[in-house]
Amino acid sequence: MKITGKTSVYGIFGYPVKHSLSPLMQNTAFKELGIDAVYVPFEVRPENLKEAVDGVRALDIKGLNVTVPHKERVIEHLDYLSDDAELLGAVNTVKNENGELTGYNTDAEGFLRSLIEEGVELKGKRALMFGAGGAARAVGYALLKGGVKFLNIVNRSFSRAKEVGELLGKRGNVLVYPLKGSTVEALLKDVDLIVNTTSVGMKPEDPVLFDYSKIPEGITVVDIIYNPPETPLLKAAKERGCKTVNGLGMLVHQGAVAFEIWTGEKAPVETMREVLERELYGGTP
Ligand code: ATR
Repeated sequence: MKITGKTSVYGIFGYPVKHSLSPLMQNTAFKELGIDAVYVPFEVRPENLKEAVDGVRALDIKGLNVTVPHKERVIEHLDYLSDDAELLGAVNTVKNENGELTGYNTDAEGFLRSLIEEGVELKGKRALMFGAGGAARAVGYALLKGGVKFLNIVNRSFSRAKEVGELLGKRGNVLVYPLKGSTVEALLKDVDLIVNTTSVGMKPEDPVLFDYSKIPEGITVVDIIYNPPETPLLKAAKERGCKTVNGLGMLVHQGAVAFEIWTGEKAPVETMREVLERELYGGTP
């Protein structure tokens, strides 16, 4: 990589940021398209967020990704918001145009694109989503945008489920439930698509969300976890003849949408996916 006086600078704000895969993915994309730009990690402590965003203007950093714990708090320091970012109350992408910063949220669009790529049909479907965190907001919003007929949301903390239900209820038919075996089993009788947005399944010692032997045969099951590539939920679903999709596509596509917002160019999605697969799951370079 040749960095010169003309090289544009992009980056990611997070705390911590050490495990972020975005620098690898975005630098690979810049290189693939021959764009003279570099993307670097910035570990920004919460108490320094305002100064850091001012620094984006002062240093003419062209664009940012924003991750935990800054996605909500960054909003007050920006000049404009996209509709998706405003509705979700969270920003994961910032574009700097002559010191004016616009916040975007590419998670919902990234999730939708990953489902389209996998040939998952949403129109008229009945979806059951687990989780009510930040990821659930974006995913639930995307499901409704994609045309699901019913969205049932199940979460361990029922009060959080209600909050998300209230937000998404403006966009479609949304009902919320607590995470209880008998409730989930009843919901499973009437479902075309299951989506996990919780962190359950990331670690080997994690509990199961529900009795996976009750997953209806042949439906679609999506887990936004990408590491491990096959969570116990997806493994059980596959054994029951379901179509399964993990979270790598969402990771790639949220990055691809950000790349397109910054550069106006179509992102090299396949190359971005390959570099992440190699990094995460190994294999020959
Ligand atoms: P993110 O921004 O990735 O969505 P988050 O806001 O911390 O992260 O949300 C984590 C989600 O995983 C929540 O829905 C959480 O449930 P609670 O709202 O009840 O905390 C869910 N989650 C995490 N650990 C869980 C567990 N052991 N069982 C069930 N749900 C769990």
